[in-house]
Amino acid sequence: MTVLVVIAHPDKNSFTQSWAAESIRSATVLGHEVLVSDLYKMKFDPIEKADHYKVTFPSDHFDVLKTQEFHSQKDSLPSEVKVELNKIKKCDLIVFHFPVWWFSPPSALKGWMERVFANGAAHDTTHRFDSGKFKGKRAQFCVTTGASKQESAFNGREADIDMLLWPTAYTLKYLGIDVLPHKIINSLHSYHSENKKNEIERNLKLELQNQIEFIAKCFTVEPLKFNNDTDFTNDGRLKVAAKSLTPFIRHSE
Ligand SMILES: Cc1cc2nc3c(=O)[nH]c(=O)nc-3n(C[C@H](O)[C@H](O)[C@H](O)COP(=O)(O)O)c2cc1C
Repeated sequence: MTVLVVIAHPDKNSFTQSWAAESIRSATVLGHEVLVSDLYKMKFDPIEKADHYKVTFPSDHFDVLKTQEFHSQKDSLPSEVKVELNKIKKCDLIVFHFPVWWFSPPSALKGWMERVFANGAAHDTTHRFDSGKFKGKRAQFCVTTGASKQESAFNGREADIDMLLWPTAYTLKYLGIDVLPHKIINSLHSYHSENKKNEIERNLKLELQNQIEFIAKCFTVEPLKFNNDTDFTNDGRLKVAAKSLTPFIRHSE
């Protein structure tokens, strides 16, 4: 199998980076081919802009979807985007490592998705959701939060982490990728008292030791459930008889 590890963290001493290094080591020990996209290290520009393209489409302004489609068809997407797309095409599993920054993934990761999941190359109107181009691949989020487990719960003050991550997970689902239940490590920040800090460091060491087992399970664990294409009407509404699986797509009260 091939595992792509995508890392969105600027600090080599962060827990996110140590955790990602453990994912890379674990996947290698398990005999998988490992590809890495360390977004800050690569200086991957997360801003989609006309400057990335020799020509935009139409030529008098920058229609992002049409420009991506045009260059997908001509095989002339920016070289750094092509490299990332090839990694995704090659891999069976993508392990994403990132912290929560302002209730969402860092913009480095959001921008990577905006550029790499190019219209035409990664999706089009007939290849999305259940017919997505990357069907058969899996994705795992390994996420750190400053908020505690309680604060990140369904009724927590820092908001339900599963809901915060839902749009990112649904982006992958749009491409046909199965998303696995998120692995969250909470209460990570540099402002703890000495005792709490020691306790957290002990727990983190245990988490890292378990990573090989965790990566091994990524190939068999049951993915998260999303509504299927058949759950929607022709005009894109959840059918009355279909079960709502997320507050993002729900029946009226
Ligand atoms: C710009 C910024 C925004 C943040 N926003 C949040 C947030 O919305 N929710 C949260 O739980 N933690 C937030 N944090 C804390 C980080 O999630 C925390 O520092 C990180 O997960 C620690 O892990 P690391 O060592 O891998 O960086 C934020 C941190 C930064 C730098």
